[in-house]
Amino acid sequence: MNDLSALPDDFVWAAATAAYQIEGAVEEDGRSPSIWDTFSHTPGKVDNGDTGDIACDHYHRWPEDLGLMDRLGLGAYRFSIAWPRVMPEGGGAVNPAGLAFYDRLTDALLEAGITPYPTLYHWDLPQAQQDRGGWPERETAERFAEYASVVAGALGDRVTHWATLNEPLCSAWIGHLEGKMAPGLTDLTAAVRASYHLHLGHGLAVQALRAAVPGAQIGIVNNLSPCEPASDSDADRAAALRADGHTNRWWLDPIHGRGYPEDMVKLYGVELPVRAGDLETIAAPLDWLGLNYYFRQVVADDPTGPVPYARQMPGPDPRRTAMDWEVHGEGLETLLVRLSEEYGAQRVYVTENGSAYQDTVGPDGEVHDPERTAYLEEHLAACARAAARGVPVAGYFAWSLLDNFEWAYGYDKRFGLVHVDYETQRRTMKTSGRRYAELIAAHRTRTRSAV
Ligand code: IFM
Repeated sequence: MNDLSALPDDFVWAAATAAYQIEGAVEEDGRSPSIWDTFSHTPGKVDNGDTGDIACDHYHRWPEDLGLMDRLGLGAYRFSIAWPRVMPEGGGAVNPAGLAFYDRLTDALLEAGITPYPTLYHWDLPQAQQDRGGWPERETAERFAEYASVVAGALGDRVTHWATLNEPLCSAWIGHLEGKMAPGLTDLTAAVRASYHLHLGHGLAVQALRAAVPGAQIGIVNNLSPCEPASDSDADRAAALRADGHTNRWWLDPIHGRGYPEDMVKLYGVELPVRAGDLETIAAPLDWLGLNYYFRQVVADDPTGPVPYARQMPGPDPRRTAMDWEVHGEGLETLLVRLSEEYGAQRVYVTENGSAYQDTVGPDGEVHDPERTAYLEEHLAACARAAARGVPVAGYFAWSLLDNFEWAYGYDKRFGLVHVDYETQRRTMKTSGRRYAELIAAHRTRTRSAV
């Protein structure tokens, strides 16, 4: 077993989910359609024609899911709040029935001793807001702050830890440039403008949260990847730098007050709609950074390919998850160290990390997933090595608590510590879940006996 002894005593052991991926109940209690309802109901956009209509039915089964968190021994739970439940039109009228769901969940988590870490935006923009232009338009950033203020007003008396956005890279690049996620555009100008307004929305939401919740601990969640050249050639090295700009620096520099990386502004060739004071708003001080890590990128120069002209090559480690992502735990250590050394992070949570495999319930009624268990141990060991090198790594949120709707891949890709049979909605703890519970318990025993 890998050595986890360097993890701090108050390390937060946790798991994560997102609203559209687990809740279902898309027409209940006044929820309006989101861009993901539209996208998933558009033929050809999601594998097998899957949608989030029912998903894990968590909206109704959350007490059972809370029981699973308890069995795992989680100290915290990261979930997202569905904007279309709270403000079905994007801005304006508030839907109390939608807010009440998160109110109940928050109370029950606290009652169980599990700290809630809500994320305000995990990709489910109200379709009504998309119809007014979506993230390429400034209005969406302003409506997002309005929504943040409403949620903070409702939950801020009990919720201390907040994340504004989840993986804005995916919203902007995959949703507006690659067209593989909602809203499904392939337009560089729209993508760059979306990235900017996501950042602005984040900054405005930080202001709203600070105003409503004294002492709030606020962060943002970025998905990052180390970007390595496929060869020593100058062309591949330059491609790796571009991939790094596209994947990492574009998302980290502005929130750290460094503005947008000039090489990338030039490469995209799209004018940013900056107004006076925006860059300061975007760089509002944060209490923590969230890192979602899944894979590294190994890239080759690709002058005729899409922006950023860097072709993804297979990484050298032969181990692959069902997503065809290379397993490379060291990449997590690399990123944690970078956030600390290059960006001066004072507190970092691994807000997502996990792996999809083709799990089935065996004849013994169990789900044996040794590859996920090994993946989990390898990545936790990377956290511990980073901690030993002085990185303030404060917690680990396994992705995911449950198998769920994996966006354009539908339900085939299972990331859960808990297996979900979508026909019956039966939940089965996988062996990786049991191992996670053991690791959590062992850490608690060790740190308690050290006191
Ligand atoms: O399922 C997603 C999640 O919604 C965001 N981060 C990556 C996960 C796995 O692809």
